[in-house]
Formats: sequence, structure tokens, C-alpha cells
Amino acid sequence: MISPSTAHSVRVLIVSSHPLFGQGLRSLLKERRTAGVEVIGMAANTDEAAAALKTLAPDLVILDYDDEAVNREEFLAHFVEGETPMRVVLVSLKDSGQVVVYDRRAVAASQVEAWLSGLESHTPATGSQSASGNLRRDGMKHFVIVGVLVVIVTVLVSVALDSISLLPVQASAQAVPIDNLFGLHFKVIAFLFSLIVVFIAYSVIVFRRRKGETGDGAHFEGHTGLEIVWTIAPLAIVFYFAFIGAQALAETREVKSDAMEVKVIASQWSWRFEYPEYGITSSELRLPANRQVLLKLTSTDVIHSFWVPEFRVKQDAIPGDTMVKELRVTPTLIGDYKVRCAELCGRQHAYMESPVIVMEPAGFEAWVIRQTALPKDPVERGARWAKQYACTACHSADGTTLVGPTWKGLFEKQETLTDGTTVTADETYLIESIVNPNLKVAQGFTPGLMPQTFAETLTPDQINDIVAYIKTLK
Ligand code: CUA
Repeated sequence: MISPSTAHSVRVLIVSSHPLFGQGLRSLLKERRTAGVEVIGMAANTDEAAAALKTLAPDLVILDYDDEAVNREEFLAHFVEGETPMRVVLVSLKDSGQVVVYDRRAVAASQVEAWLSGLESHTPATGSQSASGNLRRDGMKHFVIVGVLVVIVTVLVSVALDSISLLPVQASAQAVPIDNLFGLHFKVIAFLFSLIVVFIAYSVIVFRRRKGETGDGAHFEGHTGLEIVWTIAPLAIVFYFAFIGAQALAETREVKSDAMEVKVIASQWSWRFEYPEYGITSSELRLPANRQVLLKLTSTDVIHSFWVPEFRVKQDAIPGDTMVKELRVTPTLIGDYKVRCAELCGRQHAYMESPVIVMEPAGFEAWVIRQTALPKDPVERGARWAKQYACTACHSADGTTLVGPTWKGLFEKQETLTDGTTVTADETYLIESIVNPNLKVAQGFTPGLMPQTFAETLTPDQINDIVAYIKTLK
């Protein structure tokens, strides 16, 4: 048992082929009056050390770290991992009089810590001051260079991130606070990227192992001050971002009293837009510029998500009447965009898109008038309903098979059903299939995919119009 107490002193064997190492260490111990340490012998090589172990029975072996005449790995293999494990410490004596402990293999740290820290912390008065001063100046030089490089690389990366336009065009008032947040994030990302990459690159180049160097790097303990800084600084940054993030969120939810309400109904796999103010139903979302729109989102089946990237904001559409989600958008840029579904919702999820058209207010008014004036011809009306209620997202008029059967040549066709029976696709069957689509599903198509809600969303007149339209598709 090695103990730093004076009751039983630590018996030390010094191993080095350089007599000066032993002398130096002895005089250092004497100079510092290190209590409880007694040098009981010296050995110049592994064989001598092995012999000394038997005769002197030391508590601890100090091996000259810089001695190339003694093969360190072989020595450790022999004495640390051998039959009678010894406590070995690798020590380097610097010209300045410093003692550097490189390796405490096989020495329980707690046992010799007090003893070694006494040895390490006392540096002789002569020479060491200037040596550590030099070290510090050298360290400062590296930090200044790295600091300047980090600033330069941060600016370059930041400019590069700005110039590759990571975000689509900004087309809503809500996009402004969000883009400001993005801009700030890009700058922080540029800084963190530079901080890490510059430090790594600088170390790899400047502190690389040079020709003829065989030693290990110096042993470092932690730096409490640095650890406190790099814990508190990121924490403060995260809190700051949480704060400005909450501010931006509040800004995107600002309520305008003149907001126009639009109901957004998502289905597998189409969008429908209803304008209660005008009694319009549409498969495309037309919006007047610079007027806030309050979108009320629902779904007829699974969860979908309304997302126009140019508006930035996004909201889920959830099935069930009690789960109406709201989203406010003030379009600011006239143009054609697309709403995409941003929630994986089944087979055709990737194609669940609808046009979003931001118009001049006058153009929007004209569209409203066109939509509310109904054509006289039921076939024309039927074609319009089919488009507005997104029937055409699943049923083609040209023979292409989409999610549902094509309407081309459907009327009076002998249709084979999933149960093997056949039915004539007459008027009764068509109406029944719109109102209750699961009753008689045509073979090759999946039951349950068509929304079951058309009995409520369409009037009997509208259904008759659609059937009249299907009849014409020969
Ligand atoms: Cu709807 Cu994805």
C-alpha cells in the first residue's frame, strides 16, 4: 500500500540509462522536501530493474520517459502486465526543472496523486517563470491566429450560404419573421462550422508530428474556466433563440380583422377549398394579394399537412369535426404556387398538390363572379363540379387509370365487382357509387379510398350534373 503519509515512506526505484535523470530527480525531491519518498535505488536498463525488484522490493518504479535506451512498451509489458505487477510511473524531466508525468499506468491514481501533485506543482524559482511565460505567449499566438481565421472563414461561409438562395421566394407577410430567424441561424451555423473546422485544420497542420519525433503529446488535465464558458455560452444562445423564436411565432399568428375565411378540406389525395363568404368550392386556392386569409383545415380521412413553401407556414389537417386547425397567411407576392401535402398520407402522397394562385384583388373579384354564375348546361356544370370537388384527381376523363376507374366509357359498361358479380353502370349505379362508394367497388380498385362524404358535400342536383357529365364521356 502506497501512502503519502510519513509513517511509511514510498520506496522508489528509478530506471534510466542516463545517470543525470536519477540525480536530477533525487535533487528535486530533496529540494522540495517531498515527504514520504525515499529513492532506494537506480537501474540503467530492464535487466537491472528486474534484479533490483527482487533485492530491493520497491513500492513504485519511476521510468525515464525520454530514455530511448529503455524500450518502454517492452518494459511495461514486463513489469506491469507481467507475473508480479509493479506500479510504474512514466516521468519526463524538462530543462526548466518541470516534472511532467505522462503515464500512470498500473498506479491507482488516488494512491500517488497527493505525492505526485506535490512534485508537479512546485516548480523551482529559477528559470521556470520565463519558461511558462514563453509557453503562455506561444499559446496566445496560436489563439490569436485561430481567432482571426475563424472570423474570416465565418464571413466567407456566411456569404456563401446567402448567395446560394437556400429558401424559395418570399410570398407572404408571415415569411418575413421566419426568414429573419433562418438568416440568424445560417450565421450561427457558419460560425460553428468555422470554429470546429479551423481548430481541426490548424492543429493538424501546425501541431503535426514532425520527422524524428517519436514521443507522445503532453498530458493535459481539464480547464474548469473553459468548461464553464462552453456550457454557459451555448445555453444562453439556446435561450435567446427560444425567445426570438416565440416572438416570430406570435408574429405569424397575428390576427387581422378583415381576414377572409377559406375552408381547406384534405382527402386522399386531393385538396378542396371552400369560400363560405361567396359560396364557392374550388380545387385550386385563389387568394387576393395583401389580404389575410384564415385557413380552416380539416381532413376526410387521414392526417395531411398544408404547406406552401413560399408562404413558409405549415399546418396539419386532421380528421374529425372537432379538430379544425387554423392557419393565417397574408399573401404578398402575385404569382402561381403549389400547396403540397407535408405529411406522409399514403400511396399518392407525393402527388397531393393543388395550384395556389395569388391574384390582384380586382382579378380575384372577377374570378368570384365567374364562379358564382352557373352555366345553364348540366353537362358543363357537372364538369365544373367534378373539377371543383377534385373528383378528377382520382377519375380521368381520357381512359387513364388513376386511383379510381376512369369515367371514359363508364356509362352503361358491364362492370365486374370485387365480389365477382357484374353490374351495369347505369344512372342508379353511378349515383349510388358517389353517395356510398364502398357498396359496390369495381374489381382492381381498393375499397375505402374514395371519401364517404359526398352525400353531405354535394347536393342531389350537383350529383345529377356529374352523372350527366359522365354520360357524355364515351
Ligand atoms: Cu396528404 Cu400526404
